[in-house]
Amino acid sequence: MKAPILSFLAFAIPIFAAAGDGDWAAAYAKARTALAKLSNADKAALATGIGWEKGPCVGNIAAIAAIGFPELCLQDGPLGVRYAPGITAFPAGITTGSTWDTALMYARGNALGTESKALGVHVQLGPVGGPLGKIPEGGRNWEGFSNDPYLAGVAMAQTVAGMQAAGVQACAKHYIGNEQELNRASMSANIDDRTLHELYLWPFAEAVKANVTSVMCSYNKVGSAWSCESGSTITDILKNELDFQGWVVSDWGAQHTAVGSANAGMDMSMPGDGYGNNKFIWGAALISAVSSGQIAQSRLDDIALRILAGWYFLGQDASYPTVTGWSSWKSPTSSVPSVQGNHKTVARAIARDGIVLLKNEGNALPLNKPATLAVVGYDAILNPQGANACVDRKCDNGTLAMGWGSGTAQFPYLIAPLDAIKAQASTDGTVLTTSTSDSPSAGASAAASAATALVFINADSGEGYITVENNVGDRNNLDPWHNGNELVAAVAAVNKKTIVVIHSVGPLILESILALPSVVAVVWAGIPGQESGNGLVDILYGSTSPSGKLPFTIAKAASDYGTAVVPGDDSYPEGLFIDYRHFDKSAIAPRYEFGFGLSYTAFTYSNLSISPLSTATPSAGIAPGGLKSLFDIVATVSATITNNGTVAGAEVAQLYISLPASSAVPASPARQLRGFDKLSLKPGESGSVVFQVRRKDVSYWDVGSKSWVLPTSSFGVVVGASSRDGRLTGELA
Ligand SMILES: *[C@@H]1O[C@H](CO)[C@@H](O)[C@H](O)[C@H]1NC(C)=O
Ligand SMILES: *[C@@H]1O[C@H](CO)[C@@H](O)[C@H](O)[C@H]1NC(C)=O
Ligand SMILES: *[C@@H]1O[C@H](CO)[C@@H](O)[C@H](O)[C@H]1NC(C)=O
Ligand SMILES: *[C@@H]1O[C@H](CO)[C@@H](O)[C@H](O)[C@H]1NC(C)=O
Repeated sequence: MKAPILSFLAFAIPIFAAAGDGDWAAAYAKARTALAKLSNADKAALATGIGWEKGPCVGNIAAIAAIGFPELCLQDGPLGVRYAPGITAFPAGITTGSTWDTALMYARGNALGTESKALGVHVQLGPVGGPLGKIPEGGRNWEGFSNDPYLAGVAMAQTVAGMQAAGVQACAKHYIGNEQELNRASMSANIDDRTLHELYLWPFAEAVKANVTSVMCSYNKVGSAWSCESGSTITDILKNELDFQGWVVSDWGAQHTAVGSANAGMDMSMPGDGYGNNKFIWGAALISAVSSGQIAQSRLDDIALRILAGWYFLGQDASYPTVTGWSSWKSPTSSVPSVQGNHKTVARAIARDGIVLLKNEGNALPLNKPATLAVVGYDAILNPQGANACVDRKCDNGTLAMGWGSGTAQFPYLIAPLDAIKAQASTDGTVLTTSTSDSPSAGASAAASAATALVFINADSGEGYITVENNVGDRNNLDPWHNGNELVAAVAAVNKKTIVVIHSVGPLILESILALPSVVAVVWAGIPGQESGNGLVDILYGSTSPSGKLPFTIAKAASDYGTAVVPGDDSYPEGLFIDYRHFDKSAIAPRYEFGFGLSYTAFTYSNLSISPLSTATPSAGIAPGGLKSLFDIVATVSATITNNGTVAGAEVAQLYISLPASSAVPASPARQLRGFDKLSLKPGESGSVVFQVRRKDVSYWDVGSKSWVLPTSSFGVVVGASSRDGRLTGELA
């Protein structure tokens, strides 16, 4: 595992180690030289996919021999190379987010990029910064990392850095406001300027800072314009304000008009034709629009320059592998060598460390060589038809280890929970009884005579082009699927030590389960990928103490979130107040708050130290172009964490900052995550967590001046174990 990150930095990006120059100026110099050799027809070809299913990848750009430009391969997706054989099916974004582990985020990105490059993929379509996940039912939330922009932003930056260090171009998607599947291709996301900057743009801004070479515009409208025809979000904000040097590609079929998209700043049309109808919006039309003056020659040149610069930036002009022996549209034509390397160790570490222990009464966990153990639920086993039986995972059969849609990949194998538990039980001499359906009566029979019962339940979601059990992408509700509440109740009625394991794409309402006195422990095991069972057994049996923390709030009722799938356009009436920001503002008690997670050991916090706010930093607004100083470190917060328990464990210490409550500062969330640091400690051991606070982290977006403003009075600082478990408080001034 490559983990070159300094563990004491709250926000650390490794030294850039791309195969190319890692230098935009040098990449642009090469791109300009190449551009001089291109006709307008060549430039239009660079900008236009060759058509759906016309090449081996989900997106393909024709080769240009004169400049040594290869047929460019763009391939899904965020958790593995879609449709390719012999790849690793990593845990999903949401389970990567719940590790709060920057080294694992980077390692996953690097492994993804390594596999993509070995397979000849030039551009891997991930990571996902949108949906951010403001709507808990949102179908694709699991592809991203968290609905907190800071946590998502760190994960975006680490993933991009890891992917691009391996040589593949990352693609930050879906820009912007694609928060639900319902009507995604017709609705408008009308996001006010401050909310846009402080929430939805934030993860993309971090990806840009990490030098992401491409960004994908989304299906929806923003304001009155299609996202891929929105000059204000693409040119004004992404390219000018954030200084994005790379190129913008349409989501597949998200381009609407030739001139509108070009003039808004879109740079590449995918899949090129109208999704398989052989009608190209660009191609010849782009050339003629330039001839007629509807699109400036300089815009076409800029399109080509940006695409070439991304390619040079990663050094993809120097001996890059080609797609050989595999295609998205057929079974492998020859035996394609596995590209997995030892990446399953990364997959297992994330499946393990992303697990969040929600409840553990009387130390029910870890299991210690139980004499008898019942394993109950369809979610404990593989789909009998096979892990890949449902195309793009369009079913919830057997254990849930991926959501559905284009963000999936083929499992090389899938270790189901029961497979891994059987291996452990045989070592321990434990007698297992099982019921591997979701039948409550069968579950109760299996559990009645066992000392402990493990009940597996799940909840799935995905992309809206597929409907699973009447869920059209978005979830219909936040309840467990397959009558999971009834299954747990039937087991708990006969077994006093019932432990519930949840695989889910996001939060579930757990009230009826938690009301059962026999439910002594609850484990959220996320969307864990191919190493599901192994990672779970590591935690259930205590070879590793759980260290994941919730990347979202679990509410007592779905209505507590204050956001839901909307039938028409979405005016984002909640503004900044999503997830814990909303629970704080409206004084709603969550069931399990954002950032919460139990351990098998205990940590104490002490020795808070807060540096003065750097006086060298002006409090005046940071206008577009002043981007660099937004990332300057203006304060350092540190604390000492002590493992005060009896086993080794890791703690995620979290920094929450409150903007000054002054009339000069617009109404803001009570507290916002602005740093985190994960520390592994042996019993009795202490260590320091250090949070580097950047100017951006203590600023707000001022809509009047269209700039980031750093308020002058003092900020509230809380360092704690969750968003509501503050252990140390102080002031930053
Ligand atoms: C991004 O690229 C620039 C060169 O253009 C380089 O100076 C900077 O260190 C890179 N940033 C990261 C986070 O890799
Ligand atoms: C998935 O489960 C459903 C419901 O039991 C069943 O009808 C379907 O055949 C299964 N499909 C696969 C591919 O396993
Ligand atoms: C307190 O924190 C400082 C860093 O701010 C560190 O140098 C020192 O060792 C810590 N003291 C204890 C007792 O942990
Ligand atoms: C460790 O925990 C015990 C029991 O909760 C407590 O009495 C003790 O003060 C703690 N030690 C420290 C250093 O906080």
